[in-house]
Amino acid sequence: MLQPTQPADLAIDLRQLVITIAHTVDLVGVDDVLHGRRVGMLARELAIFMGWPEAEQQLLYDAGLLHDCGVSSTRVHHRLVVDLEWSGAEEHCVAGQDLLADFAPLAHLAPIIRYHHSRWEWLAQQTQLGDTARFANLIYLADRVDVLAAPYHADQTVLSHADEIRSRLAAERGCLFSPALVEAFEKFSEGEAFWLALQPDWVQQYQREMETHGKLEVINWAQFKQCAEIFARIIDAKSPYTQRHSRGVSRLARHLAERLGLDTVTCEKIEVAGLLHDIGKLQIPDEIIEGPNALTPHEFDIMKSHSYGTLQVLKRLPAIEEIAQWAAFHHETPDGHGYPFHIGGKALPLEARIINVADVFQALAQERPYRKPMQPAEIMAVLQERADLGRADPGIVALVAADLANCHRVALCMD
Ligand SMILES: [Fe+2]
Ligand SMILES: [Fe+2]
Ligand SMILES: [Fe+2]
Repeated sequence: MLQPTQPADLAIDLRQLVITIAHTVDLVGVDDVLHGRRVGMLARELAIFMGWPEAEQQLLYDAGLLHDCGVSSTRVHHRLVVDLEWSGAEEHCVAGQDLLADFAPLAHLAPIIRYHHSRWEWLAQQTQLGDTARFANLIYLADRVDVLAAPYHADQTVLSHADEIRSRLAAERGCLFSPALVEAFEKFSEGEAFWLALQPDWVQQYQREMETHGKLEVINWAQFKQCAEIFARIIDAKSPYTQRHSRGVSRLARHLAERLGLDTVTCEKIEVAGLLHDIGKLQIPDEIIEGPNALTPHEFDIMKSHSYGTLQVLKRLPAIEEIAQWAAFHHETPDGHGYPFHIGGKALPLEARIINVADVFQALAQERPYRKPMQPAEIMAVLQERADLGRADPGIVALVAADLANCHRVALCMD
């Protein structure tokens, strides 16, 4: 009998997929990880208030959730939340559009994301954009409401700042925002409820309610893999040092899985797990990733949270439970002294061990702020030491040793 060459199609709820990407992107907020979800909620609620049709309300929720998918760096995120208008904002709009434009299930959101920092006075003249102008401007307003209100959630003082936020945005009538939109916002935000809804508990509650609006779609494996590539591009865009890291880990992991003789379906899944393994890194401040010295013990504790974050984000997609585990176990080691679950021995799947070796290899082959890229022989010495100490699977390390030049080429995506 012929072996299948691809995993079966996945039944994935598209709304859950959008929320999973939003959750991933929101991690970039570091200690305020609900920005996209608040913007989605605000955009949808304003659309309802203005009497826009149900289909547009749903569209704006999804667009709000994903509007910042072009932001991976915590520094860029910070810049976007300190000023009402920032001249560097354009770049993340283009990056966001590029990420979604080729992914059929979400491509309709790309034009809205492209213009979500464009001034209304310009947008209004772009007649070729049609409804996109109206949608993008609503996301812009929702985004700016959230940026101005966010500093006041922790100490619950948002109500005492509501008037000041309302007048700042009203002053942009006809400039940043369409007059009709500002008018609706002014009316809607008179009520305390508008502002109280932004509290974290209620935003999460709202998200849970919206999850039931989702519809289950069958996504074929090729499409899901394309979506995993989007995740990888978001993760790798975090820092110049991590560029192509996820892709390199994914390719090397697949290469090793093939050499181990694993079946094609498993190889495909390992490849995807490699693309997703570092989702949680988006929540690690850029300063820790790009620091010039080795990590302090405290920084290392923060770093250890990243693979846990990967699992928490991917849990939303039950169809890929196994892949999520292989990804999240990439810092677990055979001796059980890895992190964060301390899973070792027989409980640590072979697939996770492969990703672990591929991850160490790829990271050593890349430059880091505190060292040059390591050469293949140096990488091999580190891997061998790890295998001797029980921190890497000796069989997989032996495989790398026998195929070192190829592994190096694959890890650096040099073909
Ligand atoms: Fe934003
Ligand atoms: Fe990692
Ligand atoms: Fe990694």
